[in-house]
Amino acid sequence: MILIIDFGSQYNQLIARRVRENHVYCQIEPPTIKANAIKRLNPDGIILSGGPSSIYEKNSPKIDPAVFKLGLPVLGICYGMHFMMSALGGTVKRTGRREYGFAELHIKRQTGVFEGIHKKTQCWMSHGDSIQRLPNGFTISAATENTAVAAAAHRSKPLIGVQFHPEVAHTLLGKKMLQNFLFSVCGCKRSWTMKSFARDAVEDIRQTVGDKKVILGLSGGVDSSVTAILLHKSIQKQLTCIFVDNGLLRKREAAKLKVTLKQHLDINIRFVNAGSKFLKALTKVADPEKKRKIIGRLFMEVFEAEAKKIKGAEFLAQGTLYPDVIESVSAFGGPTSVIKSHHNVGGLPRKMKLKLIEPLRYLFKDEVRLLGKELRLPDNLVWRQPFPGPGLAVRILGPITRKGLRILRDVDELLLEQIKDAGYYKRLWQSFAVLLPLKSVGVMGDQRTYENIVAIRAVTSKDAMTADWAKLPHTLLGKISNRIINEVDGVNRVVYDISSKPPSTIEWE
Ligand code: XMP
Repeated sequence: MILIIDFGSQYNQLIARRVRENHVYCQIEPPTIKANAIKRLNPDGIILSGGPSSIYEKNSPKIDPAVFKLGLPVLGICYGMHFMMSALGGTVKRTGRREYGFAELHIKRQTGVFEGIHKKTQCWMSHGDSIQRLPNGFTISAATENTAVAAAAHRSKPLIGVQFHPEVAHTLLGKKMLQNFLFSVCGCKRSWTMKSFARDAVEDIRQTVGDKKVILGLSGGVDSSVTAILLHKSIQKQLTCIFVDNGLLRKREAAKLKVTLKQHLDINIRFVNAGSKFLKALTKVADPEKKRKIIGRLFMEVFEAEAKKIKGAEFLAQGTLYPDVIESVSAFGGPTSVIKSHHNVGGLPRKMKLKLIEPLRYLFKDEVRLLGKELRLPDNLVWRQPFPGPGLAVRILGPITRKGLRILRDVDELLLEQIKDAGYYKRLWQSFAVLLPLKSVGVMGDQRTYENIVAIRAVTSKDAMTADWAKLPHTLLGKISNRIINEVDGVNRVVYDISSKPPSTIEWE
């Protein structure tokens, strides 16, 4: 296991992914973790991440310097390197100008992380501070034209610092350098697979739950389905799932999900049809955050009422993923501003006095999909694109009407059919339609029309934190537009969204 200390770098999750790609488990912890706690975690090595601070800033993040005395290999990246070197007696200087981008790395010592790496290779820099003087016992192992100490290592201890970022793809041999750290320096084994994860998770749940009952909210998405399978494998009939149909799902989604879930997950599921309740409460509500609040509150109400019928439940399971966990433990205590209030069920466990189980809390989305495959979840669930909790409510801009829902459902069904037929569904993070609160003029069979506009949104992404608009072929876009306008009553114009996130978001509301 590798421990990654989060000094606030935008690349933290990337470091974790690079480690896990090598079948080595890793965990990200904040710098406030004490050396004793690290000892208990028993890692094979530590990576100190980069970060936006300068070590001279008053509130720059710091880790207990006793970590350097644990005898464990430590790799400091950028700010992580600055921290290590200054904690061990070296000095760091402000260079006055930022070095940002590509640089040619000249390797002086082809050992440790640089074993088997060419003497000259491309690396990626992003820093304002540099090492001025190394602590005793360290020597320079690589330099660039602008940075004399681009990498340094201790002569006899496994302590290494790199000024550049080996975790980003622009450092051409960065993967190999990290592999050297994992396998040659730390002596890790390639033993972390989804098979071993599933085995451990099932055992863990059994230990935690004992003979008590567990409730899980199923949404039909991959995260809650995988959580359900894991729980079912561990505790079988002690698990009850609740599926709330909020009336904001895709066309025939609730019925289709019911069949799939029943067929493939031999699990106790209660279906609650609460559509009218949600639609009534949303009448004339146009503000997106108000919509989310209403939907979140009603969901809690409906869920709680159903959960109360399950006597003696002590646990609530959730399909929380690692990116959410990382955000809440980051060096600066998580996100500073709420862009959208995504987490609709956050308040449930406390309100219902239930203990929380989150078996996926250390996994990324693509790992959850692999786990789903390992657990034999059907392909249509494993590869399901994410669908927001508030559903179509945030894809109908302005107030929600039954007519709007009908139009959007028809458009959405046609769109997904085309995307799937063209083989794009799995390649896209999400693809969906948005009903705009606008009308435009058109002409159909010599008749003037004055109808709705829909926007098509298709994005590629790794984790929804950033996203690119998908460069779908024009022929496919043309077909999508034609079929929608010809086949869906009430639409006479289709537009394609060519914005990326940031500065836009994936959903329109
Ligand atoms: P944005 O629009 O913020 O979306 O770029 C990022 C990801 O989150 C999903 N999303 C939501 N999921 N409740 C949810 O459960 C919400 O209120 C919500 N809003 C956005 C979105 O579909 C994308 O995958």
